[in-house]
Amino acid sequence: MDDKQPVDETVIDIRTVCQKVLEDNWRTTHTIPAENLYPHQWLWDSCFIAIGLRHVDVAKAQQEIRSLLRGQWSNGMLPHMIFADEGPASKDRRIWQAWRNPHAPDDINTSGMTQPPMLAEAVIKIGEKLSEPEKRKWYQDMYPSLLSHHEWLYRERDPHNEGLVSLIHPWESGLDNSPPWINQLHMHSRSWWITVVEKLKLDRLILLVRRDTHHVPPGQRLNSIDALLYYTVLQRLRRKNWDTEAILERSHFMIEDLAFNSILLRANKYLQDIAQIAGKTLPEEMIENVNKSELAIEKLWDGYHKQYFSRSFITHKLIKEPSIGALLPLYAGVISKERAEELVDMLHDKKLFDTPYPIASVPLESSYYKELGYWQGPSWINTNWLIADGLERYGFKDEAATIANQSIAMVQKNGSYEYFSAKNGDPAGAKNFSWTAALIIDFIETSSSN
Ligand code: GLC
Repeated sequence: MDDKQPVDETVIDIRTVCQKVLEDNWRTTHTIPAENLYPHQWLWDSCFIAIGLRHVDVAKAQQEIRSLLRGQWSNGMLPHMIFADEGPASKDRRIWQAWRNPHAPDDINTSGMTQPPMLAEAVIKIGEKLSEPEKRKWYQDMYPSLLSHHEWLYRERDPHNEGLVSLIHPWESGLDNSPPWINQLHMHSRSWWITVVEKLKLDRLILLVRRDTHHVPPGQRLNSIDALLYYTVLQRLRRKNWDTEAILERSHFMIEDLAFNSILLRANKYLQDIAQIAGKTLPEEMIENVNKSELAIEKLWDGYHKQYFSRSFITHKLIKEPSIGALLPLYAGVISKERAEELVDMLHDKKLFDTPYPIASVPLESSYYKELGYWQGPSWINTNWLIADGLERYGFKDEAATIANQSIAMVQKNGSYEYFSAKNGDPAGAKNFSWTAALIIDFIETSSSN
């Protein structure tokens, strides 16, 4: 990561290109991630989008977030998708049947699972663009939904009060096919008939019904066996009517995901800031959970490998398959400076994450690494943004600037793609991808105003 590129005037053109992507992907009340491939509203996408959109039109950024909250369940769960209510894609809701759960909203069709809790960060970042009275009002408006979301996470997903929340499907992690998930999926969720499908090479037929591989080369997506496994997990959750208690009764497959818990730790900090400015007092139980989580992340540290890992909720064993999640405790901000230095060493290690275009989603030496293999190799702008943010707060300013500048360089060279080769910056996945555009705008704005 030593070939740093300074931000120059041409960034102004990229800003225009990125703004246009966001305009084109706007659909009445919110922004879709990308035309065709992602026609619905996604939870963490909209949060990243709002973080960029606030520099263009703060009212629209607020609208993006309000639109997300339409889907919130009465128990506080924030679903990872709100389905488009028109067009052929509106049929996708039938796969989920989230309406089987009594907490799902009556008038909005959503998925039955969540995604990383980026909402507090988006709310805070929008607040930074408002006058003091407007900010207070904005935080007061957002606080009840935010609090009930965090309360739901602890109540339903941390049933043993460990301070770590568990996920029930890889899609909840937002890093769909990252190695710890694929490892556990094959270990615990593989029925005999999937082996038959694989042996008879019937997985090729699955390509015919997949939407993603019609828009993106199959080699850049999840392989069909893994996609089938995801679907079988979804079916199981649907049979349990998306009810966490019922799911927990006989689950072999729940993960205390490192990236998700790191994001939650940061979100907890912002929840406290929002409560304070809004003039609210956090419930005692919530404060206890926040404090517990700050200590609990150390249960995920492995002294031998000198890094954090995700952990199985069922066996309590660390899943020693590194991914981009390894660097996300930097974003959490609660680990010691010594631990942060260990993670920065990984960033500078040529066998791990030191690539010309940061940051590979899987360390180069991992057996899972594939240059353009979705969450198994390429560089993604959202994880770059999160890690740069953490590095900045720990005082690793040069590393943070390199990530921001190289992210801008990738988009400048190729456009606002979903992900990029960490080796040469080549684009992959969906084109005109919204969170890439939004976070590049944020990188440009925040580095020029510093
Ligand atoms: C993919 C990504 C997920 C994202 C969604 C919509 O599933 O893995 O993180 O939210 O697409 O962009």
